[in-house]
Amino acid sequence: MLRSFFLGVGLMLLPALVLAHGKATGIVKERMDQMVTLKDAMKTLKDELASGGAYEAVRVIEAARVVERHSGKAMTAKFPEGSTQHSKALPGVWTDADSFAALAGELEAYADAMATAALHGITAPANGGILRLFSANPSPDELSRLHPYEAFKAAAETCSACHRKFRMKGP
Ligand code: HEC
Repeated sequence: MLRSFFLGVGLMLLPALVLAHGKATGIVKERMDQMVTLKDAMKTLKDELASGGAYEAVRVIEAARVVERHSGKAMTAKFPEGSTQHSKALPGVWTDADSFAALAGELEAYADAMATAALHGITAPANGGILRLFSANPSPDELSRLHPYEAFKAAAETCSACHRKFRMKGP
């Protein structure tokens, strides 16, 4: 009885979530579009880098700069206080704004590292191919020695870390 009640409520909520993106307007819609731009850029980067070895540096630099441009302050600026309508942003975005900004900043740093590495034509993985820099607050020097794919993986991990902490689950 209770279970079917919750199931019913769940089913009623589902369309609201599915429609979240479609209904959003203003700054909420802007940041959703920005996130989709990030997703597309990350897809390009993965296609270029995941197979290892040679890659097209110009494509990597371009896509990494797209990620860089839409992260850091450009990202946090799209989350003004109270912008919650048709949004999946959790309240922590505002109550824990420092952690949110730190993740947005991390993404910017990894995107820059990716572009820089591709610019320098780095093809061999640093650290024997093992990345141990996740959330360890890497120094600019460490960042400058990353292989573009390592920086990519760190960037992708940063997307996930932020979503785990600051975005509602669900479709
Ligand atoms: C600092 C935190 C943070 C980072 C970093 C971040 N995101 Fe997000 N992302 C969010 C939040 C919060 C939402 C929900 C926004 C809303 O519904 O208002 C979101 C939503 C999205 C969405 C759904 C957009 C839609 O159509 O509703 C996609 C796709 C996405 N992010 C991709 C990415 C990718 C790819 C990266 C990394 C390159 C990334 N995000 C990095 C916080 C972040």
